[in-house]
Amino acid sequence: TDVAAIRSALLAWYDQQARVLPWRTGPAAGQQGVRSEPYRVWLSEVMLQQTTVPHATPYFLVFTQRWPTVEALAAVEDGDLMAAWAGLGYYARARNLLACARAVAHDHGGVFPSTEEGLLALPGVGAYTAAAVAAIAFDRAANVVDGNVERVMARLFAVETPVPDAKPELKRLAGLLVTDERPGDWAQALMDLGATICKPKSPLCDRCPVETFCEAKAGGAPETYPRKTRK
Ligand code: ADE
Repeated sequence: TDVAAIRSALLAWYDQQARVLPWRTGPAAGQQGVRSEPYRVWLSEVMLQQTTVPHATPYFLVFTQRWPTVEALAAVEDGDLMAAWAGLGYYARARNLLACARAVAHDHGGVFPSTEEGLLALPGVGAYTAAAVAAIAFDRAANVVDGNVERVMARLFAVETPVPDAKPELKRLAGLLVTDERPGDWAQALMDLGATICKPKSPLCDRCPVETFCEAKAGGAPETYPRKTRK
């Protein structure tokens, strides 16, 4: 596997094509070397876990307008938060969100831990969120694997094992491509590729920056990956 070539092709594409999203460009982000605030990254990742970017975006804008900091969110009444969350679904996540905001505000002085381990110790923060926040907010070399990334890996490496059995293998393959260089951009480049090019049904391979490295494309039927077990 040509890790360096795959990485530079995808990162160059991301530099040109990154979606402009409010948690990437919010207050204090955008200037050279200034990353989006951990609060905004964490909030966006929790919202995006079970829903799409277009659906979550207006909620993100309302939340960050009303509660611009983790301290402000920590001070909200439970009922007000639930009302604002209505439409995002999975109310357990909203309760976890509040528990986490209160832990950061009260036990960590309003400062998010900067390591995957520290983030994992927060209430309601699972492996995916910890890795995403560590990579995107703190530029740690975390392996951020969601459904999009699993699909990209299944295709790049033509993984024949069906999901869900293939999940550990897909995570291992994703990890081979993570380095200390631009881990936050790398994670988001994979997400953007999965959402806009390497789509589940009709992948747009002719616009894919890593097409020439893709074993599923070489085999002629990239859309048939990830393989699924017949039910
Ligand atoms: N899906 C989950 N996290 C995301 C992010 N940071 N950017 C785009 N899509 C995402």
